[in-house]
Amino acid sequence: MHLEGFPRPLTLRDGTALTVRPVKAGDQPALLAFYREMPREDRLFLKDDVTTESWADRFIRRIERSEALSLVAETGGQIVAEATLYRPQHGWSVHVGELRVAVAPSHRRKGLATALAGMLVKLATDQGADKIVVEVVENQVPALRIFTRLGFQREAVLRGHVKDIGGARRDLLILSNDVSHIWAAMEALVADSSPEVH
Ligand SMILES: CC(C)(COP(=O)(O)OP(=O)(O)OC[C@H]1O[C@@H](n2cnc3c(N)ncnc32)[C@H](O)[C@@H]1OP(=O)(O)O)[C@@H](O)C(=O)NCCC(=O)NCCS
Repeated sequence: MHLEGFPRPLTLRDGTALTVRPVKAGDQPALLAFYREMPREDRLFLKDDVTTESWADRFIRRIERSEALSLVAETGGQIVAEATLYRPQHGWSVHVGELRVAVAPSHRRKGLATALAGMLVKLATDQGADKIVVEVVENQVPALRIFTRLGFQREAVLRGHVKDIGGARRDLLILSNDVSHIWAAMEALVADSSPEVH
């Protein structure tokens, strides 16, 4: 899909140069390579089994139907991060977007997740969303930190909703934020610590 302003170069805190672009049809093999490389315990923090071809095909179809907007960060033709905003096209929650983000271990702690989340929040705002939610498992400390720093607050807890790698049941936290608040927090963060976005 075409998105105004993309592909876009992104330089991380340590100088790593990446390109950020929207996911398109034909990206299935690159997405699967990215997710299959990710440690299993990290993938279990994602709702879907992102290692199967059927997931990749369904995901691309959702993008083509505008039910999802996904950005990838690439270097040397390889995907190193993926962030998605899910947007229902019908019904009483058309104003709500759901965000998720995943970064390859080699590119973590450089502000990449924060930068991609910021870009998606901006795109969501441009497209009329006024509330963003994110689902985080209770022990998912990095994600909790990132989204709390972005101004998200705990709105609901679904008890024992997720089974972890050892079969233990974990609480699922629903964090949410009004876009007006999150955008103010983003601007402060971008000024402080996030990677340079050209
Ligand atoms: C969560 C995840 C996306 C973070 O990606 P990232 O690019 O490393 O995140 P950022 O560099 O933007 O981190 C921003 C802040 O989050 C916090 N953070 C990130 N990783 C952390 C960790 N392992 N431990 C503690 N805090 C962490 C820090 O406060 C960090 O800022 P700092 O580096 O200036 O201290 C990545 O670890 C990942 O893909 N995990 C597996 C999938 C997942 O959990 N996705 C979230 C579901 S929505």
